[in-house]
Amino acid sequence: MEYGESIHVEEYTDIHSKWLYYKPSVKSKESLAFLQGALNATADGIVVIDCKENICIYNCKFIEMWEIDEKFLIARDQCQLLTLMLKQLKNPEEYIAREKELYIYPTKESYDVFELKDGRFIERYSKPQRFDNNIVGRVLSFRDITKQKQSEKKMANLERLNLVGEMAAGIGHEVRNPMTTIRGFLQMLINKKECIKYWDYYKLMIEELDRANGIITEFLSLAKDKIICRHLKNINDIINSLVPLIEADAIISNKYIKLELAPIPELYLDEAEIRQLILNIVRNGLEAMLPGGYLTIKTYLEKDEIVLAIIDQGAGIVPEVLDKISAPFFTTKDQGTGLGLSICYTIAAHHNAVVDVETSGQGTTFFIRFPRIEVPVLCAN
Ligand SMILES: Nc1ncnc2c1ncn2[C@@H]1O[C@H](COP(=O)(O)OP(=O)(O)OP(=O)(O)O)[C@@H](O)[C@H]1O
Ligand SMILES: [Mg+2]
Repeated sequence: MEYGESIHVEEYTDIHSKWLYYKPSVKSKESLAFLQGALNATADGIVVIDCKENICIYNCKFIEMWEIDEKFLIARDQCQLLTLMLKQLKNPEEYIAREKELYIYPTKESYDVFELKDGRFIERYSKPQRFDNNIVGRVLSFRDITKQKQSEKKMANLERLNLVGEMAAGIGHEVRNPMTTIRGFLQMLINKKECIKYWDYYKLMIEELDRANGIITEFLSLAKDKIICRHLKNINDIINSLVPLIEADAIISNKYIKLELAPIPELYLDEAEIRQLILNIVRNGLEAMLPGGYLTIKTYLEKDEIVLAIIDQGAGIVPEVLDKISAPFFTTKDQGTGLGLSICYTIAAHHNAVVDVETSGQGTTFFIRFPRIEVPVLCAN
């Protein structure tokens, strides 16, 4: 079947075959069916447009990826198609600009990545289609690269955390030493009779030093080369041991804690780190909720993963904030240091676990997915 073979012949719109131009012979119909099968078997969304801006060919993946009603494709109207695609893009102007460029330079090939409003990233490869050395149209191939983008972002965040960790390890101790000396002298002076009238000032200075020391302690836990002490432990036991502390925190602000702990196998864990991870996320959840809200701590098995989920009923996290939550020192709170979650991401990475966040106006869930391990069973023979 040749490209120009039946361009003038009446339109052929069999729903199983998406070749919109041709009324083919029996033999070429068979070839077309093979070709359409091959197109539909590819993982990329493909659409071919001719020089008159008509849609010639498309595959199922293209319809699925762009959630487009097939009637617009059968109508061959590229303008309608473009309008539907632009509506889904986060930055339609960027797409239009790239289209204009290709219109001006029809021989050009292009690779572009576009972000959709639903958060997906689609890569588009656009290549001119030639016949007899003439350009007769353009092949557009679309690939969903959302997962790749997400893991690139996670890697970049981890690298940034490692860098911060190295800095922390380097300067943390040096800053602490003079602070200890100052605190010691203040402690000595506060007890002197002649200083009694300044007691409040001394007390405040000591409290502020302790606060600064607390921040350094948290900061130091980001250190990359920190020694991790792992033992076989069940996350449920760690959660149960923290319940009195968490409940005391919740009761003060009139909030409630709910546990849904399913039987899960043990993992090699650094208990102190996992306690810190749970407390940081729980504290964020409690802070995000109004009085009366419920915070649920859940564990369960899912395929090859052990999942810890911390679910709050807060107002959710807006996309601009969500993008930054893992960055050290990012906070939206007056009294926050912005280290809580970055520490959690580091702890999760130490345990080969992945942190996922789902958020809406009804609340936020932090999922920490630990890979399940095979614990060797010791036989007593
Ligand atoms: N469950 C949540 N609901 C809504 N926003 C959240 C939630 N968890 C985190 N955030 C947002 O992420 C930001 C960073 O959180 P993170 O725990 O790292 O720092 P912080 O809570 O601000 O300060 P701290 O260092 O005291 O924990 C918060 O300031 C908040 O805007
Ligand atoms: Mg926090």
